[in-house]
Amino acid sequence: MLEQSIQELESSSLARIASARSLEELEVVRVSVLGRKEGALTHMMKELGKLPPEERKSTGKLVNAAKQKLEEALAAREKQFADDTLRARLDTEWIDLTLPAPGPRRGHLHPITQIQQELEDLFVSLGFAVLDGPEAETEYHNFDALNIPATHPARDAQDTFWLEGSNLLLRTHTSPVQVRGMEKLGPPLRIVAPGRVFRNESVDASHEHTFYQIEGMMVDRDVSVAHLLYFMKVMLAGVFQREVSVRLRPGYFPFVEPGFELDIQCLLCGGSGCPVCKQSGWVEQLGCGLVHPNVLRMSGIDPEEWSGFAFGLGLTRLVMMRYGIDDIRHLQGGDLRFLEQF
Ligand code: PHE
Repeated sequence: MLEQSIQELESSSLARIASARSLEELEVVRVSVLGRKEGALTHMMKELGKLPPEERKSTGKLVNAAKQKLEEALAAREKQFADDTLRARLDTEWIDLTLPAPGPRRGHLHPITQIQQELEDLFVSLGFAVLDGPEAETEYHNFDALNIPATHPARDAQDTFWLEGSNLLLRTHTSPVQVRGMEKLGPPLRIVAPGRVFRNESVDASHEHTFYQIEGMMVDRDVSVAHLLYFMKVMLAGVFQREVSVRLRPGYFPFVEPGFELDIQCLLCGGSGCPVCKQSGWVEQLGCGLVHPNVLRMSGIDPEEWSGFAFGLGLTRLVMMRYGIDDIRHLQGGDLRFLEQF
């Protein structure tokens, strides 16, 4: 009787062990068969005592054999689960140490630098050299050599940061590089000079104490306003990637004569009038003119033999026009949410 129950329990338990789907299910099987209190096989072992001695021995062997078999089956299944988990982890949790490291996050050029480099490329293709000049400049290069002597009222128009204990100042425009270019290269010459300039301004949406310009100068024989206009149109078409209508208004800069303000027809409204052009249809773009004879002479160039044009263009203003930025303070503010858009 008991022998049959043992065999039945053994085979049904083996089947349960084989079909258990987790360690938890396996534990339930173990407790119900081999558990100290409730285990079915444990119970049968206790029953052994009630058997007559001659049966007790052989049935006892049978129970022990069943117990051992089940314990082995449990252990084997348990190991299988452990192996499966390990294999699953190996499948998902590996790292390929031979892969190249991701490296540092890459940034990109500031929109002002982008436009500066575009303009440099454009002018290089037109035969101009790119020059650099110091940001801390001499009074002579920033003012005197540009026909702005100390007594000249034009000095008031460019509120200057003077550096204490020297005759240096933070350049108020890139025009001193005209002078450095003439000194260094002599005529004929074609140069552009991009860079940072400084003015003692109170900062608001359209004024910054620090901004960027690009200067241009060409000195050769018989250079006229026609040449100036040609290069300005090529430059603006290159920047805005389309034909731009321009107009010249008289403008006063002591280092050019005649001097002009060059306006472009408003790119937003096409000239019909909008808030960007203040309803005028035109947007002031740059200062330019024919190099003043005094300026040529001061840098050792004979104005009877040579003539030239010069222009100065606000790169900051240009970036604002191109991208429709309404507040100049964004550009040097260092806010990544702004910069990451370019
Ligand atoms: N330097 C002038 C400015 O910053 C611009 C300019 C340059 C005008 C060259 C004429 C010729 O306002």
